[in-house]
Amino acid sequence: MVYPIVKFGDPVLEREAESVTEFDTPELHQLIDDMFESMYVAKGVGLAAPQIGIGRKIAVIDVSNGENPGDKLVLINPQVVRSEGKQEGEEGCLSIPGFREQVRRGKRVTLRAQNAKGESFEMTGEDLLARAFLHETEHLHGRLYITHISALKRDLMKRKIKKKQRAGDWD
Ligand code: NI
Repeated sequence: MVYPIVKFGDPVLEREAESVTEFDTPELHQLIDDMFESMYVAKGVGLAAPQIGIGRKIAVIDVSNGENPGDKLVLINPQVVRSEGKQEGEEGCLSIPGFREQVRRGKRVTLRAQNAKGESFEMTGEDLLARAFLHETEHLHGRLYITHISALKRDLMKRKIKKKQRAGDWD
């Protein structure tokens, strides 16, 4: 099923998600399938479970937008092991539609995570994938990319969002 994407302002986005302790269950596999489906419909390259209102440490990533099945990644309980180098680039979030900002991130990032069966693995990504690793892992800690931009830009963004909320244009 396709879940609606939770938007900025919902507290689930700014809470630490709970670690996953049960693996390889039909429910977990179904949730992961639904997360990919919801992400593709929303045209994102990454989606964290809190973005569909589920406060658990699960994220999916596909930097190919569904073009290459080998790019489908499931990250459960991910942790950043290493971040090297720097990259500057625009970043957005499905939960904050209509906004993009420059965010400096590591260029090469190594994660440790578990797959749907609970097996641990380490993976290194560069460029867009490194950015997605950091963005999605932060979601699972209740942190949004806008915490990386200046307070001035963030306040401006929040004012614009409030306006949209008042106009009924944000749910
Ligand atoms: Ni996001």
